[in-house]
Amino acid sequence: MSLIRVGLVGIGAQTKENLLPSLLQIPDVQIVAGCDLDFERAQTLRSYVRDVQVFKDVATMLSCMGLDALVLACPPQAHRDISLMAIERGVHVFVEKPPCFTLGELKEMIDAATRKKVVTGVGLNFRFARPVQQLRKIAASEKFGQVAHVQINHYANKPRAPLWGHSSTLRSFLLAQTIHSIDLTTVFGKDSVTDVHSTVQQAADAMLARIDVTFSSGRTASILTGSMFPYFEFDMKVISEKSSMITLDNLWNMTLHESEIATRVVGGDKRWRNSWQPSPLDSGYARSGYNGELTGFFNAIRTGTSFEADFVSMIPTYQVIEQVCAGEVQVGDTGLPALRVIEEKKIRSTTNA
Ligand SMILES: NC(=O)c1ccc[n+]([C@@H]2O[C@H](COP(=O)([O-])OP(=O)(O)OC[C@H]3O[C@@H](n4cnc5c(N)ncnc54)[C@H](O)[C@@H]3O)[C@@H](O)[C@H]2O)c1
Repeated sequence: MSLIRVGLVGIGAQTKENLLPSLLQIPDVQIVAGCDLDFERAQTLRSYVRDVQVFKDVATMLSCMGLDALVLACPPQAHRDISLMAIERGVHVFVEKPPCFTLGELKEMIDAATRKKVVTGVGLNFRFARPVQQLRKIAASEKFGQVAHVQINHYANKPRAPLWGHSSTLRSFLLAQTIHSIDLTTVFGKDSVTDVHSTVQQAADAMLARIDVTFSSGRTASILTGSMFPYFEFDMKVISEKSSMITLDNLWNMTLHESEIATRVVGGDKRWRNSWQPSPLDSGYARSGYNGELTGFFNAIRTGTSFEADFVSMIPTYQVIEQVCAGEVQVGDTGLPALRVIEEKKIRSTTNA
């Protein structure tokens, strides 16, 4: 398949600001159709893409256009329902995160895609961001050693209310924000989640969560996240059994710490560090991962392979989300202190991938 015929679904902010500009840079991918429930929004696509057909109903678009793939940026219930519809017709699907609300829904989508042999993808651009790609390359090297622990601070100040018509602010927050950090803890091995321990504190409409995950290899991860912070901030540490450590600040500055680093100029010294930053000339879409994730998805379609961020790859992430949400029922609900622990639970997973 040389030219891939793509239909876009959901012509909102994410499509216009990130997905569409990235798609327009990828060779041999043609956007032939677009669809939004709000037909005026669908029509705006004509300003960016020549000869595009626009629709307000996905079923009609799928019937009329002979599409190879759909790229969706809608609410999760639309990702779930439209994916199932497209998969039944043998159309490959890439959905923005989150692909759905629950682990059960994800498994239904995986079963359908496996049966129809279509390629699936989830928009997890942090995974494909240039600095994270560099970090993953170093972490995979023999010299760095086996990853022992991943620590992520993922601070945010929203959402502080349920999203997409769901009743739970906690699940909405995890699906909107923390899904990226949980996913990043899973990319350092093909092992399964064996243990999740989480604590969620709530004050007014904001929340703070600590999540500790153990994988079957013995590798561990800890995430501090929540909407209680004054602004968005993201940093990450990866520690190896050989006492090497990579730090990544705000998805930008990466530093490799080793017990001793030799440089050409100063030779060996304990206090030196190797650091790396993206080039200021990198396109924003390559740096933020949008270009890489979409290119990877289309390459998988061309080569008949699976895409690394496919629906299956999300199973450990949804297992963690289910475990954190399992304790959402408020415990010891006597009086209403300003700050209270709404969940503290240690659960051994019985549903490994
Ligand atoms: N990767 C990231 O970091 C990132 C960043 C921002 C948003 N997102 C995700 O992108 C998705 C969209 O976010 P947004 O900010 O663009 O929202 P938005 O509300 O601006 O756009 C969503 C669009 O989908 C349309 N839509 C809803 N249901 C539909 C259906 N059944 N058929 C056709 N169109 C439908 C809506 O009319 C709307 O125009 C969300 O899932 C969000 O989590 C991801």
